[in-house]
Amino acid sequence: MNKKELCEKLYRLAQKKKDFATLCKELDLQDYEVAGLISIMREEGYNIDYLNGEVIIFKNPPKQKDVYELPYNLERLRLLLLSDTHLASKYDRIDILKYLYDKAEDRGIKHILHSGDFTDGRSNRPEQVYELREPSYEGQIQYAVEKYPTFSGKTYVISGNHDDWWYKATGSEIVKSIADKRDDIVYLGPDVADMKIGNLKVRLFHGTGGSAYAKSYKLQKYLDAIPLNERPDILQTGHIHQAFYMKQDHTHCFQTSALQDLTPYCRMLGLSNDKSVWWVDITFDNKGNIYSITPELENFGDKKLTLTRKKG
Ligand SMILES: [Fe+2]
Repeated sequence: MNKKELCEKLYRLAQKKKDFATLCKELDLQDYEVAGLISIMREEGYNIDYLNGEVIIFKNPPKQKDVYELPYNLERLRLLLLSDTHLASKYDRIDILKYLYDKAEDRGIKHILHSGDFTDGRSNRPEQVYELREPSYEGQIQYAVEKYPTFSGKTYVISGNHDDWWYKATGSEIVKSIADKRDDIVYLGPDVADMKIGNLKVRLFHGTGGSAYAKSYKLQKYLDAIPLNERPDILQTGHIHQAFYMKQDHTHCFQTSALQDLTPYCRMLGLSNDKSVWWVDITFDNKGNIYSITPELENFGDKKLTLTRKKG
């Protein structure tokens, strides 16, 4: 049995709530070997742990509460905010992504933020498999690692509900697995993460559930629930595939739409599906405090992208 098969067998046994001694026996391994394998699985993103003599399966990906801090002391910071790329869907738009990453490079941008649904995942809706270029976990990882554009900066990303389907089915965090293979992609955790770039506080949040009666409703309610002094300067959200911007108190809220064409499933449900990104220009005063935040929406509509960009 190779390592992957061993991990999968161990995970299946743990799901059946087998005790540690039985697990060692059925795997034909020593106790220290099984404990070691569990810690490797944990590092690889499986929702498994060995605590107080028991093997535990977590129901949700472990939340990361730490703030990811990046030093920054220049007067100007430019960001590209995007979301819901749904890689490995037949409706993904790698062409738009390539155009955007080239443009970010031309603009000297070093930080691209992604608010989840990096991959299309694997739903328990049977027809979804016909909407996928790659139906397997390994296939979606390979597709993302090979096709997601590179540039000289870094992409900071959280997972969304589509990515988390893999977690529910297999116990693995697909975006973590992708980021482990790409030095320019930083995985900040599942569903929500805080980061600080210089003095700029940013929260990435994906969101769940169906659409509300107004597209700003959920975001407003989410922001209202955060005490004023804990609110970020930029709140970037995903999930609803529609773009909008609003400023509430000191927080600039960017709802980022999708970079995926409308799927047959969403068409059937009558859901909206914008394709756009936010370019954000931030300036700081001489003490490093935020002076201005200026948003610019770039919309891709329904047209196929036929732009050819000249380098230099
Ligand atoms: Fe999505």
